[in-house]
Amino acid sequence: KTIYILNGPNLNLLGKRQPEIYGSDTLAHVEATCTALGADLGLSVKLMQSNHEGEIVEMIHEARDNAAGIIINPAAYTHTSVAILDALHTFEGPVLEVHISNVHKREAFRHHSYVSQRADGVIAGFGVEGYALAMRRMGSLLA
Ligand code: DQA
Repeated sequence: KTIYILNGPNLNLLGKRQPEIYGSDTLAHVEATCTALGADLGLSVKLMQSNHEGEIVEMIHEARDNAAGIIINPAAYTHTSVAILDALHTFEGPVLEVHISNVHKREAFRHHSYVSQRADGVIAGFGVEGYALAMRRMGSLLA
């Protein structure tokens, strides 16, 4: 089984971008950690990132045929994108939403998530470890 780990805008700069909020680990580190953990769980991992909303919609469409579950950090699109929410509604497997920072401790505009209306679980404020925790949960949900 394959898990898609989808990442939204500005997360290509993870590790360099506001490290006081998002830490110094890169997305490549997240990919390596989740790939290794996936091997233990019997899950393969495909991590993708895009700065474009429509591309993320298309990644979710691709997941319909190729992925058993989706872990998604939609970044700023979390708070704005009905299109990503609607795309996730077309996906039948588990969807887990990850935020590196604790969005609830931050500005009010980060407190609402469109994606949470579809997510089976949400992790926020665990740093990049949140992705690994979501992988473990995928292992349980897909066992
Ligand atoms: C984020 C939180 C969002 O509010 C923000 O726009 C991001 C990253 C997080 O991982 O903490 O880009 O999703």
